Formats: sequence, C-alpha cells, structure tokens
Amino acid sequence: MAILVTGGAGYIGSHMVLALCDAGEEVVVLDDLSTGVRANVDPRARFMLGDVSDPLIVMRLIAEHGIRAVVHFAAKIVVPDSVADPLDYYLANTAKTRALLAAVTAAHVPHFVFSSTAAVYGDVSQEPVSEATPAVPVSPYGASKLMSEWMLRDSAQAYGLKYVALRYFNVAGADPLGRTGQSTPRATHLIKVACEAATGKRAGMQVFGTDYPTRDGTCIRDYIHVSDLVSAHLDALNYLKNGGANAVMNCGYGAGYSVLDVVETVKRVSGVDFPVTLAPARAGDPASIVASASKIRDTLGWRPKYDNLETIVRHALAWERKLPANSAAA
Ligand code: UFG
Repeated sequence: MAILVTGGAGYIGSHMVLALCDAGEEVVVLDDLSTGVRANVDPRARFMLGDVSDPLIVMRLIAEHGIRAVVHFAAKIVVPDSVADPLDYYLANTAKTRALLAAVTAAHVPHFVFSSTAAVYGDVSQEPVSEATPAVPVSPYGASKLMSEWMLRDSAQAYGLKYVALRYFNVAGADPLGRTGQSTPRATHLIKVACEAATGKRAGMQVFGTDYPTRDGTCIRDYIHVSDLVSAHLDALNYLKNGGANAVMNCGYGAGYSVLDVVETVKRVSGVDFPVTLAPARAGDPASIVASASKIRDTLGWRPKYDNLETIVRHALAWERKLPANSAAA
C-alpha cells in the first residue's frame, strides 16, 4: 500500500517524500518537472514523469502500487503570475485537480491531503485568521485553490472520499539535514530572496512597501518551517487512517514577523550586510496575515519542532549555500 505524492519533486513535495520515506512508507511521486527538480526526489521513492490530469497514468499508478492515499502538491504558486494569466492557473490548479479527483474517486482511493493556501482568505481585516473567516480570495491563485477545496467537499459528500485540506501560510526553510530545499530559479519568496542576497547570488534585495499600518511599516507574515508543514501532512494522513472527519485547517504558527524582521534575521544569521532598497508596495500584498493555529493542534495533535524564525533562516541559508550560483534570479 503506497502513498502517491503529486509534485514530489517540488519544494514542499520533496520534503514530504523524505519524511514519508524516513517513516518507512512506500512512496510514488508523480511530477511533470515543470518546476520540480528530479535530483531532489529521495531515491527510495518511485518516480513517474507525467501530468496529474492524465487519467491513464494516475489509474495505472493507483492499480500498480495499491495507492491508499494521495498528497496533492502539484500546482502553480506565484500570485502575480495568476493575475497576469488567470486561465493558466485555473487550468493548472483547478481543472487538473478535478481530473485527478475523478481518477482517484473512480479508483476508490480512500484518503486525500490537499495543499491549500492562506490566499483563499483574501484581504483579512481581523487577525488572527481562523478557519471560520470567510474565504474571499483576491487573486486567481487563491480562487483556483478555493475551488479545489469545494471539489473536495463535494466529492466527499458524493463519493465518500475522506480529505484534509491544509491552508499554508508562508512556508520557508529547508530540510534540517540539508537533503533538499527551495531550488526553483527566479524565486520571489522573501526568505529565499534574502538568502540569495546573503550568498551573493543577487546584488541585493528590495523591501516592497514601507508605509503599511504595521509596527514598522512593512508587511507581517506567519512563517512556517517546511519540515513542520510536512509533519502536519503526516499527522493528517494518520488522522484520516484513524477515521478522522474531513477538515480544512490553517497551517501556521500564529506569530507574525515583518519584512524588516526577516531581513535583519538573515543578515544576522549569515553575517553578511547585503544591500537593501526600500521600494514601493507590491500590488495585492495584504498588510498582515497571521494564522489562528489552534484547530490543527487540537484536531491533529500537531506539534511543530522548528517554530523559530532564526532556525528557519539558518536552514534556508545552509541550503542556499549548497545550491550552485546559477540557480538564483537571472
Ligand atoms: N517581499 C519583499 N521583497 C522581496 C520579496 C517579498 O519585500 O523580494 C515582501 C512581500 O512584499 C510580502 C512579504 O515579503 O510583504 C512576503 O512575500 P512572499 O512573496 O514571500 O510571500 P506572500 O506573503 O506574498 O505569499 C505567500 C505564499 C503564497 C500564499 C500567500 C498567502 O507565497 O503562495 O503567502 O498569504 F498565497
């Protein structure tokens, strides 16, 4: 009985594959390598190059490996890109998830863990953001993921699929043992960008927006270590195995750090005073988004191990130092 990980060559997916293999699970990865890195897939896992929306591939993998659960990471994740080309995001994230779900439910795979996002909430006025906060996404990216949550809810009702959807806040860091990490070229995420600046892969970095209504004028986010995020997925799989009810849960620590906090931490941990320019706000960035993190702790018994910005940065930096220089922004 194996577990199918879609997008298992990606940033979060490759950490999930390691954790499942470490736990002695049989793992099958399905990834089209559009952004994933083959070398980051644990050799203990079976790798299949292909598209999650191809029913022939998915049905074959399910039958051949006796798939008992699917963990679905494969997706596009860049919010501004989704604004520029929404139909591409509705295809990659919504239509392909629909095709995957059709194959999974037809083959009676019982359990599904879905990679959702805090972007489903849109511009939140009340913090921390609990799962009861109305989901009103402001980007096609957030909408594409919310529609997938709806398909899960309805598939559970109609076909008996059991699922957990995890709404990730700001995922960062890397495997503490240095086996994988964020490897995507032209990354836009703050901690990755700052680590590229600290390792000389870019000349410096910009802080987008300095007059937000926050304590230092820059945006506040809830940064979660990728290994803690992955342990939440392991907990979700166990929860479903033990008969847990379908659930949608935030995945964050419930603590907010500003952009300047992050920049200062990366400078301190790296010992490099890289150039930082103050720049206008990026379109669509909410001032602050911090999770209410009690539901996942109460429901799954999730206990994070790396709940510390300095640890997240230390691991991200260690990985960045291992990556070749040509992996950064052009
Ligand atoms: N930022 C900078 N400079 C940079 C990069 C980012 O100042 O070079 C700022 C952004 O403006 C923002 C903060 O750092 O204020 C965090 O930005 P990220 O791009 O790292 O992350 P976002 O909060 O924009 O997005 C993340 C995930 C999305 C998810 C969203 C939900 O990447 O997938 O959180 O809130 F949808």
